Amino acid sequence: MNWVSRISKTSVALALTLGMTSVAVWADTIVITADRMVDVSQGKMIKRAGIIVTDNIIAAAGELGKLSVPANAKRIDLGDATLMPGLMDMHVHLTSDATRHGYKRLEVSLPRAAITGVKHAKATIEAGFTTVRNVGAPGFADVALRDAINAGDVEGPRMFVAGPSLGVTGGHCDSNLLPYEYDNYSEGVADGPWEVRKKVRRNIKYGATVIKFCATGGVLSKGTKVGAQQYTFEEMQALIDEAHLRGLTVATHAHGTSGIKAAIKAGVDSVEHVSLLDDEAIVLAKQHGTYFSMDIYVTEYILGEGEKAGILEESLNKERIVGKTQRENFKKAVDAGVNMVFGSDAGVYPHGDNPKQFARMVQFGMTPMQAIQAATINPARLLKQEATLGSLEEGKLADIVAVPGNPMEDMSLMEKVGFVMKDGRIVKQYAM
Ligand code: ARG
Repeated sequence: MNWVSRISKTSVALALTLGMTSVAVWADTIVITADRMVDVSQGKMIKRAGIIVTDNIIAAAGELGKLSVPANAKRIDLGDATLMPGLMDMHVHLTSDATRHGYKRLEVSLPRAAITGVKHAKATIEAGFTTVRNVGAPGFADVALRDAINAGDVEGPRMFVAGPSLGVTGGHCDSNLLPYEYDNYSEGVADGPWEVRKKVRRNIKYGATVIKFCATGGVLSKGTKVGAQQYTFEEMQALIDEAHLRGLTVATHAHGTSGIKAAIKAGVDSVEHVSLLDDEAIVLAKQHGTYFSMDIYVTEYILGEGEKAGILEESLNKERIVGKTQRENFKKAVDAGVNMVFGSDAGVYPHGDNPKQFARMVQFGMTPMQAIQAATINPARLLKQEATLGSLEEGKLADIVAVPGNPMEDMSLMEKVGFVMKDGRIVKQYAM
């Protein structure tokens, strides 16, 4: 084979831009094969499948018999396994430690949290999540972690990051653990339309690529009512308008019905938790095309391990109220055809355990295919990244994972990801 034809277009373009025509980067072609592959765009399983990867791009994917595999391609056969796009979790806190909640969190400095994030990023990608949306981190620790991952200093998923979450004084996104003489509040606190606009601008200035705000009270915050709305409609409108103006999408924490509806009407892109939802909220979400990110596994960790980890008694009581209702409402939203994305809230529970939610999503109303779509193509659409992420199709980035066996028959196999490729590079490869 002529050497020129082995150089990918991107490599040539790169060499030319850098003025290095004599130092051409050679294209590597790999073909990954397995007994099955999930086609998330068509919602079907392909038998005896292959994916041709050139550099970091998917050159072709589909039934192996129909692919023209270049003779020089390196082959990786995974056997009785299922290939699928790299998984995407739309609700993580990589710099949060699941063993430290409540007052135990106050012992952790910002630099310490950022370092813990390094360990969590590795655990997350090894569990098969090649992309995450980090929806809240004090001190822009998530920005630092993303930049370290992108620079190749540490291993981790592609990160979309929010920086500090925005919230009202004393609300779920504030820090309410200390009495007033400590004058302690979270960095994302902003009240009133212009203050929230300014906070959005500040978050963007320091590297945020999504905006997160707290529309209602929450489970783990001290002194907030889980169902009560916190931001006014006017504040939400200003905040979302500002983010959209700058080309960023917006996620809102919302458990309570009125907060969920107000945020949807104000144009939010995704609602997180969505626990106490009513029929009108479902209709509104469908009308507006809003995504729901419902963390229906975490309740088991909070009620099982939470006390040991320092979760406050009042939070455990709030969890007893929302956990069960959230699961019932998950089924309603799925049945109604709301856009659903996988969001785990890992950080509240251990990073790397994210995939435990898949089996629950099927138990509480999704088909296995819907659950996999919720963690691949749907998040790519929510993030407006479907041109490069979310499915195994020609031209997309080579973010590929595989699980042993067939997850359509047993969703807990999603907890056993054995092969991970991110951006054309193999991060993990076990014999499956
Ligand atoms: N971060 C969320 C909060 O504090 C966790 C909620 C977890 N509970 C649940 N059932 N999803 O409100």
